[in-house]
Amino acid sequence: MNISMIGTGYVGLVSGVCFAEFGFPVSCVDLNAGLIARLNAGEVTIFEPGLDELMARNIRDGRLSFTTDLAASVAEADVIFIAVGTPSRRGDGEADLQYIEAAADAVAAAMKPGAVIVIKSTVVVGTNARIRDRIRAARPDVAFSMVSNPEFLREGSAIEDFMRPDRVVVGVEDARGREAMRRVYRPLYLRETPMVVTTLENAEIIKYAANAFLAMKVTFINQVADLCEQAGGNVQEVAHAIGMDKRIGAKFLHAGPGFGGSCFPKDTRAFAATGRRFDAPQTLIEEVVAVNEARKQAMAARIVEAARKTGAQSVAVLGIAFKPNTDDIRESPALDIVRAIQKAGLTVRAHDPEAMNAARTVLPDVIWCASAYEAVEGAGVVALLTEWNAYRALDLKKIADLMAGNVLFDMRNVYKLEDVADTGLDYRSVGNGAVS
Ligand code: NAD
Ligand code: UGA
Repeated sequence: MNISMIGTGYVGLVSGVCFAEFGFPVSCVDLNAGLIARLNAGEVTIFEPGLDELMARNIRDGRLSFTTDLAASVAEADVIFIAVGTPSRRGDGEADLQYIEAAADAVAAAMKPGAVIVIKSTVVVGTNARIRDRIRAARPDVAFSMVSNPEFLREGSAIEDFMRPDRVVVGVEDARGREAMRRVYRPLYLRETPMVVTTLENAEIIKYAANAFLAMKVTFINQVADLCEQAGGNVQEVAHAIGMDKRIGAKFLHAGPGFGGSCFPKDTRAFAATGRRFDAPQTLIEEVVAVNEARKQAMAARIVEAARKTGAQSVAVLGIAFKPNTDDIRESPALDIVRAIQKAGLTVRAHDPEAMNAARTVLPDVIWCASAYEAVEGAGVVALLTEWNAYRALDLKKIADLMAGNVLFDMRNVYKLEDVADTGLDYRSVGNGAVS
């Protein structure tokens, strides 16, 4: 069973490496020649814990290869995964499907009879059927099967998520598609991972509904945090207790500066746009999008106000990535927050353990620092925006001594009150009305 993986970004690379680890020959394809050259030189192009080891092993054993030659890769493939990007379209928030369409056209031209074409990218309901019809119109001579197989991995724990998912979802139309999915996911199947076999449309809606629900959960607890701050509550205690109810669940109840990343923002916008298009308004999610945008600005306003009071000209930002253990900064709340601080006329000194290279190009005029300690030097306010483990172990007394002011915004609630006691820091966490 030969696999061709079209698109070698976060999802394509992780999925390609993991399918190779399952024992299949996998050829990963990308249009980006520079990216493929780096991969062929053995470079791991994204920061993802555990990926380097798996990638090296599968390249060494000859199961994993990288190419820009889509036609050659597809011509040999029994199963072709499409894992290209589906970013937001400017203006209306709909998912931009141009990369999917271009990949599908290229696959149609090169596929062999009996190929199984699997869309792994996140695509709005109706896309798989439309792409199937497009490929069929281009190649009426060749039989193929269409499968929708949305991916649920998270960045930062992508390998673990791929290898031990809560479930695998496959939308299929025929036995060939279903059997191909049973074979490629066999190691998971043997581990009794549930496989939801459903229609193309259900698989598409499941993916968006899952991301929208999780984004809604985060937004909900962020608003509860606001209430806690005003009313003297503590959001961590509230979240802990409501999460004990299994119907609610403990996960995705961590208050913070607003959700970000390559998926929640664009997927909530696309889900809302799909609802409008089908005249089935997703008003909850429309609101989630608006509340989350406003939250990032509100967090920036807090920082600016506190900085002005200290009289210092600079703010230190710790953490730019949208979450720890990734170098991905796409739609990170830190980007909006940094820009708003700069707009207010303040200087930003910033540090991130992995994301500074990516951030340099999109955040001009930031003073990039080699360490958290260097970043806080002379700052009136420090804002911790990403909960990297390295920041949990900082010497807070030293931080206080290096700063010009003394305000520490812990926007991920990583510290306990005893950590900041006796440091001289004016500690402001999220959703704690007792100390904020
Ligand atoms: P990405 O931007 O990291 O990677 C996409 C890659 O596809 C790029 O390297 C690009 O050069 C390549 N590409 C585009 N068109 C191509 C073509 N015609 N032929 C070959 N290569 C092509 O994107 P990503 O983050 O991996 O996301 C891919 C899809 O998976 C999206 O729909 C996303 O919503 C979904 N998804 C992402 C995650 C995640 O954690 N990033 C998780 C689940 C689902
Ligand atoms: C998310 C989903 O969790 C994955 O299941 C999905 O496959 C993926 O989107 C996708 O479709 O791309 P990811 O974006 O990697 O994964 O990261 P998450 O861990 O979900 O975090 C998303 C954002 O929510 C981050 O900014 C994070 O800081 C924030 N968040 C998350 C909170 O503020 N609080 C929480 O309790 C959880």
